[in-house]
Amino acid sequence: MALTSNRAVLAWIDEMAAMTQPDQLVWIDGSEAQLEELRKQACASGEIERLNEEKLPGCYLHRTAVNDVARVEDRTFICCKKQEDAGPTNHWMAPQEMYAKLKKLYTGAMKGRTMYVIPYSMGVVGSPFAKYGIELTDSIYVVLNMAIMTRVGRAVADVMGDDFVKGLHAKADIDPENRYIVHFPEDNTIMSVNSGYGGNVLLGKKCFALRIASYLGRQQGWMAEHMLILGVENPQGEVRYLAAAFPSACGKTNLAMLIPPEHYRKAGWKVWCVGDDIAWLRIGEDGRLWAMNPEYGFFGVAPGTNVKSNPNALATTRQGTIFTNVVHNLDDNTVWWEGLDKNPPEHAVDWQGRPWNGKTSGEKGAHPNSRFTAPAKNCPCISPEFESPRGVPISAIVFGGRRARTAPLVYQSRDWTHGVFVGSIMASETTAAATGAVGVVRRDPMAMLPFCGYHMADYWQHWLDMGEKLGGKAPKIFNVNWFRTDEDGKFLWPGFGDNLRVLEWILKRCFGEAEAVETPIGWEPRPEDIDLEDSGVELDTLRGLLGVDTALWRDEVKGIREFYQKFGDKLPRQLSEELDILDARLN
Ligand code: GTP
Ligand code: MN
Ligand code: MN
Repeated sequence: MALTSNRAVLAWIDEMAAMTQPDQLVWIDGSEAQLEELRKQACASGEIERLNEEKLPGCYLHRTAVNDVARVEDRTFICCKKQEDAGPTNHWMAPQEMYAKLKKLYTGAMKGRTMYVIPYSMGVVGSPFAKYGIELTDSIYVVLNMAIMTRVGRAVADVMGDDFVKGLHAKADIDPENRYIVHFPEDNTIMSVNSGYGGNVLLGKKCFALRIASYLGRQQGWMAEHMLILGVENPQGEVRYLAAAFPSACGKTNLAMLIPPEHYRKAGWKVWCVGDDIAWLRIGEDGRLWAMNPEYGFFGVAPGTNVKSNPNALATTRQGTIFTNVVHNLDDNTVWWEGLDKNPPEHAVDWQGRPWNGKTSGEKGAHPNSRFTAPAKNCPCISPEFESPRGVPISAIVFGGRRARTAPLVYQSRDWTHGVFVGSIMASETTAAATGAVGVVRRDPMAMLPFCGYHMADYWQHWLDMGEKLGGKAPKIFNVNWFRTDEDGKFLWPGFGDNLRVLEWILKRCFGEAEAVETPIGWEPRPEDIDLEDSGVELDTLRGLLGVDTALWRDEVKGIREFYQKFGDKLPRQLSEELDILDARLN
C-alpha cells in the first residue's frame, strides 16, 4: 500500500519501477514490526547475521563485496547543465548524457527483486528546517541502515508533499567498472548504481545532506557543512555550542563525543554531542547562526574505537547497531576490529568472509574503513537539544586538519572574512607513520572538497555572503591542529579528551573572557591561557605547539597560490587579498 496519494511522488516511483522492473514494491512504514520482518528475511538470505543477543542486543553484521568498501570519489558526479557550475573540483557530465548512460544500467536491474520505497527526513519530522527524500532501493541492508541514520516511514510520507529529493539505488551487479554515484542538483535527484557500500548507497547522508543540500543552501541562504556539533557546559551550567569541520578521518566523531579530563569533570564541565558529521546552519530570527544535525544516527569508523580512545562511541555501538566489514568472533558471536583491544579472537571470520585467527594471521581482520551504524540515541552524551527542531546557536566555528609542523595547536581568525580564508586553505598531510613521506599535502577546503555540490569558488563566495548577513552576530572562526609531531613523528599534544583545554579557550574568546596575542597568521592564546593541569604537557612543549614557523608558512603561501589558481576568475577577491595580507605579514 502506498503511503501517499501525492501524484508527483507516485508518478516518479512508477517511472523508476518501469525502468528497473522489480517483482514487487514495498513501502517502508517505519514500524518496528516491518523492520523486524526485514531483518529476519535478510538473516535467512545471509545478507546479515544476528549477533550475540546478550552482549550485543539487536546488533547485526554485514559484509560488502571485496571491491566495494569505500566511497568512490572518482565515480562521483555532479551533473548540472553547465560544467562551469560544477567547478574544477567535481567530476561532471552533461545531464542528458548521464541519464542515458544510467538508464542502460538500471533497465531490468531489479528483476526478481523487491523495490523498497523509503520516505525519509533529514532533520526532525515536521520542523521548518527538515528536508525530505525518498530512496528507492533493492537492498534490505540499505533499508535497515536508513532506518538508523534517518527518520523514516509513515510520519514522513504524511508531511512530505511533492518537494522531495528523489533517490534511486540499485545494487545491479556490484560492478566497479559501472559504479556511479550521480547528483542532478537542478532536478533534486540522486542516482547510485553498482554499489552496496554505505557512503555510496545511504543517499540521505553525503549525497543529500551535503552535496544536494549545499546546492540548495546557496540558493536559499543557508549552509550544509561537513561539521560536528558540540555543546560544552561550563561549571556555571551554561552550554555554549561550536561546529567543527575536519576532513574524513581527522577526528570529528572523536571530538563530538569527547570525555573531559578528570579535573574538568570534577569541576562540573560536561560535553554534549549534537552531531558528529553533518551540520545544517541557518540564520535564526535572533540574527545568530543556528545549527542542526540532519541525521538520526552515527556511521562511524570502527578500527581504533576503544574504551580509552572513545568510550562514548563504543557504548553507542552496544545495541541496535549494524556492523559492516568488521571481524566476526565465532567464540561468542560478537565483533572485533583492530584497535578494539589487545586480544584478537582466534576463531573468527575476517571482513572478506575467510576463516581468521587473530593470534597467528599477519593480515588485518577488519577492513580499515569498516563501520558501525548506530542510533544517535544510544550515545551516553547525546545532547538534550538533539531533537530540538530549531537546533542550537553556534558561538564558534572550528576548522582543522592533520599538519605535522605548519599549523599551531590553535589560532583565531581576525574576522569572518579572514576565517573564510582560513577554511579555504585547510589541508591535511600524510604522516610518517602512515606512508614514510611526511608533508604530502592534500587541500580540503572546509573539509568539503568531496562533498560540495557546486563550484568551490561560488561556495566560498556564499560563505562570505553569509558573513555579511550575520554581521556582528557571526560566530568567531578558529583553526586547530591536534597532530603536531616532534622530530620522531610522535604527537606532541595528547588530544582526545584533552582537546577540551583548547575548546575552553576558544569558547571563552567568543564571550570576551580570554586573552590572546597577535601572530602573522591570526590570534593565539598565550601559553598560560591554556589549562595544562594534569595534562602531562610541559609549558615549553605548549610554547612549541603554538609556534608559527615563518619559513614553513612562506612555503605554505606558495602552495595556496598554486591551489587558488585552479579557480580562475571565480576566486572571490577577498580571498586573494587575504592571501596577500598573509604573505606581507610573513615578510
Ligand atoms: P569521517 O567520519 O570519515 O568523516 O571522519 P571523522 O572526522 O569522524 O574521523 P574519526 O573521528 O573517525 O577519526 C579518527 C582518527 O583520528 C582515528 O585514527 C583517531 O584515533 C584519530 N584522532 C581523533 N582525535 C584525535 C586526537 O585528538 N589526537 C590524535 N592524535 N588522534 C586523533
Ligand atoms: Mn564524514
Ligand atoms: Mn566520523
